[in-house]
Amino acid sequence: MTIQKILKGVKIIGVGGAVPPTIIMNDALTQLVDTSDEWITSRTGIKQRHVLSGDETLSDLGVQAAKQAVAQAGVDPATIGMVIVATTTPDERYPAMAARVQTGIGAVNASGYDIALACTGFAAALITAEQFLRTGFHQRILVIGADAHTRVMDWSDRNTCVLFGDGAGAVLLESTELENDAFLACDMNLDGAKANELHADHIVNNCPLVPQASARSPYVQMNGREVYKFAVAVVMNSILRTLENCQKTIEDIDYLILHQANIRIMESMTERLGIPPEKMIVNLQRYGNTSAATIPLALNEAVLDGRIKTGSTVMICGFGGGLSWASSCFKWGGPTVAVTTEQMNG
Ligand code: ACO
Repeated sequence: MTIQKILKGVKIIGVGGAVPPTIIMNDALTQLVDTSDEWITSRTGIKQRHVLSGDETLSDLGVQAAKQAVAQAGVDPATIGMVIVATTTPDERYPAMAARVQTGIGAVNASGYDIALACTGFAAALITAEQFLRTGFHQRILVIGADAHTRVMDWSDRNTCVLFGDGAGAVLLESTELENDAFLACDMNLDGAKANELHADHIVNNCPLVPQASARSPYVQMNGREVYKFAVAVVMNSILRTLENCQKTIEDIDYLILHQANIRIMESMTERLGIPPEKMIVNLQRYGNTSAATIPLALNEAVLDGRIKTGSTVMICGFGGGLSWASSCFKWGGPTVAVTTEQMNG
């Protein structure tokens, strides 16, 4: 029998987001480091962040976000073929967080794994899922971006501890006929030569019978200025390349969702790309940098409040640890649902 290999179209059919209930305002951080609300707001745009507390887990946030996406799509979780979680701060070394989400939402027939690409993780996971759906390998895939960087922070380092928050966002993708394809183009990159500009090491315990490894910091190490320069340099090119790949122009973008790291990076991009600021989705003032979760959390809010509607052309671009960066341009194909305060607040 000849197997017909026909590429499929791909669309998003649901989105969700969740953050922990505890909020830490900028002012509270002055108890820990020599900083101020004025410095944090003017240099980053961040006013507050949500943080995991006590026995709360990142997996629970992932499950909450995933349940919202599945409910919005109105599908049976047993029809999901795969769960991909983008995270570099999972609750456990193993199993993959995908295993916790799979069982937490009842996706009993799904395979799955985690992708570790820091703040680029969600964009990379989305592009990965797109390929499995295009080839017909799976019909439905859940993609989650989730991170809890507040658990890997040196809370005495003012250069990093004021920047991050915790959260999870999810999208459910489905294969469709090629003529209904909503994924227009993408772009994905890695520059490992710059890895040390932004990294968080594991504590290494060698076998006691051999020499121990040199002491390492378990916390996030970031050369903020270099990462800033890198982001401004690569994001614009990645967006332009993605547009070129689908023969679209800047004017065709209805909404731009950049990784929410710093408001100054976003403002610089709107200026250099010539995109009206109202087309940029910004929510980092409320969540800080939630790493792999920033893009799906922002997408979720913009869908819930009605800015992104069926047919809207959305460009996302993630950048961060690796150093890595990735863009994807798609038409919003999911349903638009009325906002509830509970959903907006995660
Ligand atoms: N409060 C007060 N002062 C501070 C603080 C703080 N929280 N942090 C740093 N400073 C001081 C510095 O010590 C420095 O003082 P000095 O001049 O006496 O040495 C001064 O402020 C300026 O420091 P810079 O590092 O030059 O500040 P900058 O304007 O570059 O802002 C920031 C720093 C916000 C980190 C910025 O560089 C940035 O956003 N970089 C990009 C980060 C990013 O995009 N990360 C994304 C990926 S994250 C991931 O992948 C996990």
